[in-house]
Amino acid sequence: MKDNLVQLAQHCYWDREFESLTVGGNYVKLTASQTNLLAHLVENLNRPVHSIDIFNELTHLLCKEYSLKSVRNLISTLRKSVPSLNILNIYGGYYMLRKENASSNVEFKDDLYEILEQSISPTIITNPNEDDNHIIYANNAFIELFEYTFEEVVGHNCRFLHSDDTEQLALDEVRDAIHEKKSITVNLHNYTHSGALIYNEVTISPIFDKKSGKLKYYLGIYKDVTTTQRLM
Ligand SMILES: Cc1cc2nc3c(=O)[nH]c(=O)nc-3n(C[C@H](O)[C@H](O)[C@H](O)COP(=O)(O)O)c2cc1C
Repeated sequence: MKDNLVQLAQHCYWDREFESLTVGGNYVKLTASQTNLLAHLVENLNRPVHSIDIFNELTHLLCKEYSLKSVRNLISTLRKSVPSLNILNIYGGYYMLRKENASSNVEFKDDLYEILEQSISPTIITNPNEDDNHIIYANNAFIELFEYTFEEVVGHNCRFLHSDDTEQLALDEVRDAIHEKKSITVNLHNYTHSGALIYNEVTISPIFDKKSGKLKYYLGIYKDVTTTQRLM
């Protein structure tokens, strides 16, 4: 392979010299912003890049003001127009372009379930294409935090977590994000099975089918911030 060619996925190559992308041998038409964004992500392949660095880079190169929101939109349109690109939205405003081969490693895929099960971050997956966007998976850390059993949470929408605490403004933000299929990080007042209040920083990410672009799941990752909230 020529030195300037970087393989990003099967049949998907980035040409460093000409800053062009080919998928299945065909050139993909990209806007100037998309080209600069992709060039920056390729230079940091398999490494997380913060959105602030991306917008600084774009503002510098294109002499145009970018905001965090416009960076998010740019990434989202790039993802939709080139589904074979594996651009991950990582916790805390970081993005990472991951070379497809790394994630298609069979052993790693088999281990993914065990990774979630043993993770200390409470995590759930919901299915927005089924009845009421209900939970289809909850890991051990989630079960422990909320004191429910797996069977008690699966099949239910997450709204049971806020109990009667329905006046939270953050819930409107969550509803809007879900409606717009966007990711969000919010602070919510949730309640355990026994009724104890816990403050959670929750990050909800929509997960799309890479080929069709169709929304498939929502991933929810929880951080228990009760102790810090109580001190405030
Ligand atoms: C992945 C995911 C995680 C969620 N986590 C919570 C949560 O921790 N607490 C909560 O009240 N709602 C959570 N929601 C939002 C609820 O599903 C629901 O939309 C929200 O509570 C508003 O209730 P409503 O649909 O009755 O208006 C989550 C949604 C998703 C998709």
